[in-house]
Amino acid sequence: MTATVSPVSMEDLVALCKRRGFIYPASEIYGGINGFWDYGPMGVELKNNLRDAWWHDMVHCPPDGLDGQPLNIVGLDSSIIQNPRTWEASGHVGGFSDPMVDCRETKSRYRADQVLCLGVRGDKQGQIYAFLEGDDESREGARKKLEKYVKRSLEDSELDTCSLLDLSSDELGMTVGPDTKAPGTLTEPREFNLMFQTEVGAVRSDDSTAYLRPETAQGIFLNYQNIVDTMRVKVPFGIAQIGKAFRNEVTPRNFIFRSREFEQMEIEWFCHEDDVQQWYEYWCDVRRRWWFAMGLSENSLRMRQHSADELAHYAKAGAGTFDIEYRFPFTWPDYGELEGVAHRGNYDLTRHAEFSGKKLAYFDQQRNERYLPHVIEPSAGLSRGTLAVLCDAYTPDDRPSKVFMKFHPRLAPIKAAVFPLVNKDGMPEVAQPLYRALRKRWAVQYDAKQSVGKRYARMDEAGTPYCFTIDGQTLEDQTVTVRDRDTASQERISLDQIEVFLSDRLT
Ligand code: GAP
Repeated sequence: MTATVSPVSMEDLVALCKRRGFIYPASEIYGGINGFWDYGPMGVELKNNLRDAWWHDMVHCPPDGLDGQPLNIVGLDSSIIQNPRTWEASGHVGGFSDPMVDCRETKSRYRADQVLCLGVRGDKQGQIYAFLEGDDESREGARKKLEKYVKRSLEDSELDTCSLLDLSSDELGMTVGPDTKAPGTLTEPREFNLMFQTEVGAVRSDDSTAYLRPETAQGIFLNYQNIVDTMRVKVPFGIAQIGKAFRNEVTPRNFIFRSREFEQMEIEWFCHEDDVQQWYEYWCDVRRRWWFAMGLSENSLRMRQHSADELAHYAKAGAGTFDIEYRFPFTWPDYGELEGVAHRGNYDLTRHAEFSGKKLAYFDQQRNERYLPHVIEPSAGLSRGTLAVLCDAYTPDDRPSKVFMKFHPRLAPIKAAVFPLVNKDGMPEVAQPLYRALRKRWAVQYDAKQSVGKRYARMDEAGTPYCFTIDGQTLEDQTVTVRDRDTASQERISLDQIEVFLSDRLT
């Protein structure tokens, strides 16, 4: 049976991330800025390792395709700011918005589609609703507000929950916000475009308005023809890009899960319409298996098909979207989106051809046919993936550090540590050359301070798979102890076997 509470507390994980230099709130000395995060020395290594694993496994060495031959996927790094017409063509200027409501009294802002309201069923006083923020505590607070208003206690059977978006204007006028006492402080829901605007050039005018990209995908569509013309690619092929995306999220929350600046890893896979369904299934499977290969546990991942009303504007043209979902501590026992695999049809190329006036059709020599390729898009969050990896690695234990980070060795920020047991007696003279040799190949740390137990504890929290300790015996027989992070067990190996030992295990 699934536990109803996650074994990982977000509070503990966020504290470890701060303590061990993974993730800090952005601009912290000025009180932070909501929805933005900085990656510290450990965090940037972890995130870069995940990024590099994706690039290696999807671009340099992608899996075999439907015909048993390796896929052809090329890379791209396009600008964050593009011609603003891009976002008209893509549908983001008109359609990339969330409904929001504001509280006039507290100035708080809410995603109207994500909040529920509690109402009293058929009460003589008329319907009154209290705003919920989704958890049990908020439900209890809302019930108390309703009880004060109707001046009696309320049974569960008398209460209804509904989406804020389902309320009429009159009902919305009778809704109490979470931080207010009386109803009537909430505005009507209105659409809020999530793109960040900026100005290009010194003179401000309507023509100078530009947008920070809300997805990396459009840079790929804009360069599709350049790549076809210059790279001798043939359909089916893919273009991959990793980079920053920006969304002015109404309610950024859950640490780096939903932030306003984040990174994506996206592939646009161009294929013939007749083959698109097969490729769709292929990519769902490849991407799910890739997350397992990154060490995420099988029972924490699931695939979920989007329902028709959830589909993004572009996916409506195709056969839909599968989400690869991870069971985050704050969604537990439910799941939250980690990656979407969308069938975009030829929506984007059609729109860019129309808006730019350029011919983007592809001539397929084998089929002797000209067409706009259809697209399957596996779109993963690099920041959100880093969070999933952090959550999955967090392992409470009865060792002195009480926790260790069980990262897959490919992702671990530090691959090994070298310790002289004491900082004297000839031990640093052996440890230093070893450290210098290993660091040429891997991210390795040298630590000679404090007790060896404290050094192990620091490395456990950083998720370092192996620690090598040079002790008195090393000076006699040229062996060192190697301590395994996951079992905390130790064995002795010969100094000259360390590089082989690591190369065998760090893949
Ligand atoms: N090109 C398609 C696209 O952008 P999306 O589902 O909006 O699709 C893809 O985003 C992935 O980007 C998500 O699965 C998630 O991992 C990540 N993502 C989206 N919004 C995010 C946010 N505000 N903060 C962190 N990651 C986000």
